[in-house]
Amino acid sequence: MTSLDDLRWLRSDDGAAATTLAARLQADGVDLLPGLARLRAEAGPDHAGPAWELARLRARARPAFGPDADRLFLTADALEQAGRPELAARRAARLLAGGSARAADLGCAAGTDAVALARAGASVVAVDRDPVARALTTANAEALGVADRVQVLDADVVDLVAAADGEVAGCGAATLDPARRAGGRRQLDPDRWSPPWSTVVALLDRVPTVVVKVAPGLDHDRVPAGVEAEWVSVGGSIVEALLWGRGPSATWRRATLVRDGDICELTAESDPGPADVAPVRGWLHEPDPAVIRSGLVSLVAADLGATLVDPTIAYLTSDAAVASPWVSSYRVDDVLPFNLKKLRALLRSRGIGRVVVKKRGSPIEPETLARQLRGPGSASAVVVVTRVAGAPTVLVCATA
Ligand SMILES: C[S@@+](CC[C@H](N)C(=O)[O-])C[C@H]1O[C@@H](n2cnc3c(N)ncnc32)[C@H](O)[C@@H]1O
Repeated sequence: MTSLDDLRWLRSDDGAAATTLAARLQADGVDLLPGLARLRAEAGPDHAGPAWELARLRARARPAFGPDADRLFLTADALEQAGRPELAARRAARLLAGGSARAADLGCAAGTDAVALARAGASVVAVDRDPVARALTTANAEALGVADRVQVLDADVVDLVAAADGEVAGCGAATLDPARRAGGRRQLDPDRWSPPWSTVVALLDRVPTVVVKVAPGLDHDRVPAGVEAEWVSVGGSIVEALLWGRGPSATWRRATLVRDGDICELTAESDPGPADVAPVRGWLHEPDPAVIRSGLVSLVAADLGATLVDPTIAYLTSDAAVASPWVSSYRVDDVLPFNLKKLRALLRSRGIGRVVVKKRGSPIEPETLARQLRGPGSASAVVVVTRVAGAPTVLVCATA
């Protein structure tokens, strides 16, 4: 647990030298105990642990934060809550596109959004009621060269939003990222987020130019009218869900896919309704989770000439192969009712000894089934366990 005193020391020249040494020891593969002994000798007994921990957190942050990671001040908690900087930059650019010069980061933690807003040109008020979060944001704004544009404020976001009227904390734009974990556990109920759902709704009502990060599983029924909901996926996983206030809101729902720096977006002005359902054909398509969460599967289906295999399952099927960023596709070789014995026999007869199991709408455990289906054959396949027209079904597909 990093304290304010630890942070103060880590920001000093001695702290920087000890953290650099810790990073070098870790890069050389030195284990914790000898590493700490070496740091204790250099920096004293009180400082070895914090320097080792910061070096470890910076290494963990590097894939997402790039070269910035080596200058960041972090706690394990703040890093776990931090969004991806490239997405924070994208959010900041869209939020400020309407011309706001001042933006509030409501619940700043380590300051990822505050830094992104400042880098996008705004004067930022970064708010947090946690003193360690405020110290981290102050340190990171300075370390990343935007301290002159970031003011850090000790306040309760609930109170600030209750007093908001077109602006919040003196700013015409705001980003709110409620804490959705407590005691190491995810809080599924938005009323238990901090600040809670009532503050999210109040902010969306009172300040037009806002963006709120919410849980990807948020119920569509909660999205207020006139508010755009966006689901963003990177590498096939949802990384954030956003509610855009009535200022920047441009559509009903948006699915955004980020791949190798490229961005694809799919939007709908209103609910497109469900896709048609028809029997399994030659190809199976698994929509990206951003498409599924945003309720836009039927748009992709229409575009690809595809249909659902079951009204309750988000697998699509078509006659021909398709080229689309929105789906992963598999050629279907066999369709059979789910029966372990018959499935195993079929795989053996085809010389298939290795399978990747995918499932949707089935209680099976993919790793367990993959183990059960392992055999002597050298070929491999993708086995999809799902429901087709309500019946438990297996699709044996070719690997890509
Ligand atoms: C999920 S984190 C923000 C993460 C940040 N956007 C980032 O990407 O690094 C939420 C932050 O909100 C703060 N917070 C929660 N409730 C608050 C409240 N009522 N007033 C002020 N800050 C609050 C927490 O202390 C925490 O630092």
